[in-house]
Amino acid sequence: IANGVARTPPMGWSSWNHFQCNVDEWTVKTTADALISTGLAALGYKYVNIDDCWGEETRDEKGNLRAKSSTFPSGIKALADYVHSKGLKLGIYSSAGWTCSKQMPGSLRHEDEDARTFAQWGIDYLKYDNCYHDGSKNQARGQEDPATWAGRYGNAWRTTGDIKDSWDSITSIADVNNIWGRYAGPGRWNDPDMLEVGNGGMSLEEYRSHFSIWAAMKAPLLIGCDVRSVNKETLGILGNKEVIYVNQDPLGVQARKIRSENGLEIWAGPLSRRRVVVVFWNRASSWTAISVGWREIGLPSLTPVVVRDLWAHSFVSRNMLSRLSANVAPHGCKMYILTPY
Ligand code: GLA
Repeated sequence: IANGVARTPPMGWSSWNHFQCNVDEWTVKTTADALISTGLAALGYKYVNIDDCWGEETRDEKGNLRAKSSTFPSGIKALADYVHSKGLKLGIYSSAGWTCSKQMPGSLRHEDEDARTFAQWGIDYLKYDNCYHDGSKNQARGQEDPATWAGRYGNAWRTTGDIKDSWDSITSIADVNNIWGRYAGPGRWNDPDMLEVGNGGMSLEEYRSHFSIWAAMKAPLLIGCDVRSVNKETLGILGNKEVIYVNQDPLGVQARKIRSENGLEIWAGPLSRRRVVVVFWNRASSWTAISVGWREIGLPSLTPVVVRDLWAHSFVSRNMLSRLSANVAPHGCKMYILTPY
């Protein structure tokens, strides 16, 4: 929607992938602090999003949602004030029916009052789930894929089931999210789910691929690890300015898979100022060369191009004329910006 927010994909952190229901106000506050001290906030990671399990099992006597007193004793308003005092924004979670953990009520038939509650608390971002609803539908048949309708109501929508911290999960999610590419644009983004980078289930090479493809697909970049104990390698991935810059490009076009042969893939898409982002993604199990010609990525052949490698942080060439080739590690990727001149 054109409500002025999320003109580029939202960036921040969410509690779910790492903490699930073990989230409390201390975790949220110290994570906000860590986003600042690691430098991630300055790179654009501004949303601090509390996912499921923040509320009591029952509404108060007036029918309002309330924070769980055992884990959020100071209440959500105080937390919002704290997060805002750091220059960050606070996100929260609700669902139709019960929330997906089934530990707290959702907002079905309480939409107005809950929206008012969230606004009063100073919430900046709402993730709205659809678990345990009563079967009521407000979409006509054949309109069930969120990409086709959710942009009228929100700034991003999930396109897949829940991500897992595994190679199989990220490859299959990337392929499904890819199908919906044409629906994305400023203010309306496909969401292939939150990042698993730093949670330990994949190799660094795999996490680099995960982050590169999510960034190129213009996914919301919501960190899903424990930022308070993030190591240098993880920070090197989540903090790669050049890759973030692709994600936040003002043109807002989702890069797509343009070629795939035996697990060797090329993803590409336009950026502002006639530039092109290209990702070589090797899903196979040995080092292999991948190569692309200008025509295939929408540039006239024989156009002189400056090629920047976004992981090596160096120029491959300042004057490349027709094709780009590279050796790519198993499960790894190469990511480039091509600037014609
Ligand atoms: C669903 C969502 C997840 C998370 C959980 C919380 O499974 O897809 O991202 O919010 O609910 O219970």
